[in-house]
Parts: sequence; structure tokens; C-alpha cells
Amino acid sequence: MAIISDDGSEAKRLGKKNPIVKPETIEYDNTFENSIRPKDFDSYIGQSALKESLKITLEAARLRNKALDHMLFYGPPGLGKTTIAGVIAAQMGVDIKITSAPALERPRDIIGILMSLKGGEILFIDEIHRLNKVAEEILYPAMEDFTLDMTTGKSQTAKTIRVPLPKFTLIGATTKAGELSSPLRDRFGIIHRLEFYTVDELSEVVKRTAKILDIKINEEGAKAIAVRSRGTPRIANRLVKRVADFAIVKFNGIIDKQVANESLDILKIDEFGLDNTDRALLSLIIDKYDGGPVGIETIAAALSEDVRTIEDVCEPYLLQAGLLQRTPRGRKVSPEGYRHLGIKTPSEQTRLF
Ligand code: ADE
Repeated sequence: MAIISDDGSEAKRLGKKNPIVKPETIEYDNTFENSIRPKDFDSYIGQSALKESLKITLEAARLRNKALDHMLFYGPPGLGKTTIAGVIAAQMGVDIKITSAPALERPRDIIGILMSLKGGEILFIDEIHRLNKVAEEILYPAMEDFTLDMTTGKSQTAKTIRVPLPKFTLIGATTKAGELSSPLRDRFGIIHRLEFYTVDELSEVVKRTAKILDIKINEEGAKAIAVRSRGTPRIANRLVKRVADFAIVKFNGIIDKQVANESLDILKIDEFGLDNTDRALLSLIIDKYDGGPVGIETIAAALSEDVRTIEDVCEPYLLQAGLLQRTPRGRKVSPEGYRHLGIKTPSEQTRLF
């Protein structure tokens, strides 16, 4: 299986006006994250309900010699949406073309990528909730009938021609399923929400990554990293790498509980996995807005972060951990959020004894 990742940037870099995806614009992504991605169901840890149902779906498609249904994966960032798409492609023995909605700005971007697909191939579109209306309308017949409806000529002489496409599978990923239009959502045969990982699952992810990085780690060291990983394997993997650096430079090269905890303390990742931005967000709401509710735009402006970062990166885990609450009038810090920062809630402060 080849993972072909293209956002049109290579064509732009070369000064080409038309970054329609062509085979020569293929880029191979060799980031750390890609190098440790599991390639099959056995090495993909967690999301067991999804894995079990996918195994059946894939087997059925193989037995019937059919392309897989289009699939939509949603959930907070870093839970393995791209990774599971890669596993599906590898298990089916087909190529996957990876792109994201913001890279499909013009009709020719989406048309180019659709026309480059071969039978059975997977097209992965990340952040699919950001697809524009025109691109969406091109996708509808492509997903439903495997055709491209193209208009030639102008107004009265305009003609629509139908171009057949090979039977491909679209895998869409989003952190905001609610922002997908219903016609687009309805065209996915399989819709699945990815869940936060348990500490045990994350410990397995940590041990697997440490092995790939060739760094020694014991059970307690793996667990110490796992508990501070916010239920997210992408964060767990990032932390293993950072802690491994500390273990090699400052300690004896082995990650145990003490090495993990001391390293993560230095990195200012607390025992809940919160970093400086998360704590600043909670403190801001407590100190400046009496614990809330306060609007997301106000929070983002005060922290000099953009709204999307707050919504997509900070909030999902703070909400899941019960430290923050979402109300119709804005965000509120929960009593647990106060306790986590060692601050008394307003009602505790007014109580005399
Ligand atoms: N790295 C990132 N996600 C993973 C997963 N689900 N299993 C194993 N390694 C991973």
C-alpha cells in the first residue's frame, strides 16, 4: 500500500497555476507520526468496537469483490482517524490518497483528485466539514453513482457531460460532525465516532512506540505517560518521544515511573495531562469571569489563541474530564476544575466554616 499525500502545495511551490493532483505531485510523508502508524488491525490498539465491525465490512467487500462503502469517522483530533483509514487501505491492499478539505478550494482540485483515482482506491478527506458547497456538489454524484457531472460551454449553450469514475471509497474525517450538511452526511454508508482511549490502551500505545524508538520502558513508566496523555494516542506518542530524550540525557536511558513523572513535570504537563494553555484557560475563566459562563470568542481573544484551537484542541478533553462545562451562555469551570487548580469554588469561599 502506498500512502499518497497531497494538498497541492508541491504544485504551488513549483509555481504551477493548476495544482490538480497528478502522480508527479505525490509527496511521501515521513514524519515521526507516520513512521509509527500501525499498518494493520493487530497493531492498531483501542477502538475495539470500530475494529470488529470494520473487519466484517472489509471481509464482506473482499468476498463480494466490491469497493467498500464510503465511511465517515468523527471525534476529537489525535484519536487515529487517518491511521484507521491507512489500516483499511493496507488490509484491502489498495492505495490511499490523502488530502484535506481546505486543499480542495477550487472545483478543479476535487475534479483532479477524483479523476486520478483507480478502482477500489481510497480517497481520504480530512476536515471534511470544511468542504465548500461547490466541492460538495461535485462529490454527491461521485459518491452515489461514481460519475462526474461536468458543464461545458456558457449559459444557453452549456451542456452537462457525465464522466464515469472508477468505484472508489471516500473516507471523510472530521472533528465536527454536526457541521456537515445532511446531504453529504447521508451519503456515507458507515458513520463512526472515535472514542478517547483508556489508560490501559494508551499504556500499550506507549510501549509499542518506545519499542519502535528502541528505548527501554517498564509498565509503570508506560502508565505514568499514559495517564497524562489526555486519552489521545497522538499525545501519548509525542510524550514518549520527549520523555525518551530526558531518559537518555538526564537519566539512565530507561523510562520508569520516576523518569516519566520528573520529565513530564519539567515539561509542565500535569497529572491530568493538562498543559499551560489548558490551565491558563481555566484560570482565566475563574479569575476574570467568576468561573463563567463566558463566550468562546472572549476566551480565545484573552488567550491570544484562535477559536478553532480552543474548540478542537483544548476543549474536548477538558469537557470529557469534567473540568469545563458548556452552557448555552458560554463555558463554565466545574467544581472539579476549581479543585484541579487548588482554588475554592465561589460557594466554598462564601461558606464561613
Ligand atoms: N499510534 C497512534 N494511534 C495508535 C493506535 N491506535 N494503536 C497503536 N499505535 C498508535
